[in-house]
Amino acid sequence: MTHRLAVLISGNGTNLQAIIDAIDAGRLSASVAVVLSNKTSAAGLQRAIRAGIATITLNKENYPDRAAFDQAMIAELDRFQPDTIVLAGFMRILSPAFVAHYSGRLINIHPSLLPLHKGLHTHLHAIQAGDAEHGCSVHFVSDELDGGPIIARARVPVLENDSEETLSKRVQAREYELYPRVLEWRATGRLTLEPRGVQLDGQPIPSEGFDLDQLPAELATAPANSRRS
Ligand code: GRF
Repeated sequence: MTHRLAVLISGNGTNLQAIIDAIDAGRLSASVAVVLSNKTSAAGLQRAIRAGIATITLNKENYPDRAAFDQAMIAELDRFQPDTIVLAGFMRILSPAFVAHYSGRLINIHPSLLPLHKGLHTHLHAIQAGDAEHGCSVHFVSDELDGGPIIARARVPVLENDSEETLSKRVQAREYELYPRVLEWRATGRLTLEPRGVQLDGQPIPSEGFDLDQLPAELATAPANSRRS
């Protein structure tokens, strides 16, 4: 059975696009079952529609509180029987009940080398801190904001003349490589979150996650279905 992704967005959806493109290119053996947005204006919704993917939009104004909103998300998402919930620029804090419901199936991409620079404006913070390198991280989601177990990271150098914009562009380019790669490990059943931590092929992974540029040999090769052509 194809691994079913539910992708949650609030904005542009360029990571969603990278996931769609990776599936089309045979680099990711999954399907996007549904895209959910909390913003009707999210450009990413058009990307989903263009790709023929079902979309759901929920407006927080229609719910009395976060708990009710999150229960509505659960009800909508579960109709699509998702194997993995993919947060891709979803700009809402999730309730503990939502996180618990999808425990071990909920993954986020964050634009920093976690545990550095949690929260917003990460590119600016990396420049202001004088960091020599910056990047992005994919992690399982826990109740702590941007604090769940890290799966993998990708680095970029911070250049002398970098602005928030130039740095964010280079980081985003790496996000588009990193997220589909990690999702392929999920889709092929290799990546799980166990009580003893993140496991890849049944083995614990480094606590800072894998480095995309230094993957062990068994992870560095392209997935079988992309080697066909
Ligand atoms: C990305 O930079 C991601 O790291 C962060 O939100 C941004 C989403 O961008 N969580 P997009 O909507 O995928 O273009």
